Amino acid sequence: MSRTPIIAGNWKMNNTIAQGKALVEALIPLVKDASGVDVVVCPTATALSAVSAVASGTNIHVGAQNVHWEKSGAFTGEISTDMLKEIGVEYVVLGHSERRDYFGETDEGVNKRAKAAYAAGITPIICCGESLDVRESGKYIDHVVNQVKLALDGFSADEVAKLVIAYEPIWAIGTGKTATFEQAEEVCKAIREAVAEKFNPAAADAVRIQYGGSVKPATIKDLMAQPNVDGALVGGAALKADDFAAIVKF
Ligand code: PGA
Repeated sequence: MSRTPIIAGNWKMNNTIAQGKALVEALIPLVKDASGVDVVVCPTATALSAVSAVASGTNIHVGAQNVHWEKSGAFTGEISTDMLKEIGVEYVVLGHSERRDYFGETDEGVNKRAKAAYAAGITPIICCGESLDVRESGKYIDHVVNQVKLALDGFSADEVAKLVIAYEPIWAIGTGKTATFEQAEEVCKAIREAVAEKFNPAAADAVRIQYGGSVKPATIKDLMAQPNVDGALVGGAALKADDFAAIVKF
């Protein structure tokens, strides 16, 4: 089966509405001819609506950086799936290591958010990845596979087939240290095997697995040449239209 590559830009806490609109306006002509690849930008909550309006009718899709599992209610600071759907959001980044490390996001929370997003028709981009300590302990595959299994708990195989998983070694995020292609492939392959084992081979074959962590125009080609790497979740380089476009057009 051939999986459509997916390149997503995670803007994190960067870009005001004006800056976000300008970035997408600059990006539109640069990526308009990119075919056979899904292009996603994930602005902050305040810029989502404006960026979505600018991107509407183009090949750029919009993702949020989080979503809550309840439909509405007393959840200060959270955003619901209906709120995201209303403004054309199609993807949501969930369980990013920054959310896990700085804001207490748990595997259980990631799973609940993912289920709610999927049920609402928003594609979750579920992040997983190990710290440097875990990497050096040698137990990184177990760690990542366990995160993925917990995040996917309660999904059916058919549903898992439509999800996106982002493997992001924490030691490679924002550090300029990209994992080697072999390191990225090793873990992405292990994730796919774990999906085959927990669900079925068809789900494993279909689920898209991104690599994330200091992805740059210079590294994307070799990453994408790995059989189990189906795309990238891009942080820093997604803030520059030229760099992000070069990554999209790997
Ligand atoms: P980076 O961030 O590309 O700046 O390393 C990636 C991410 O955290 O998604």
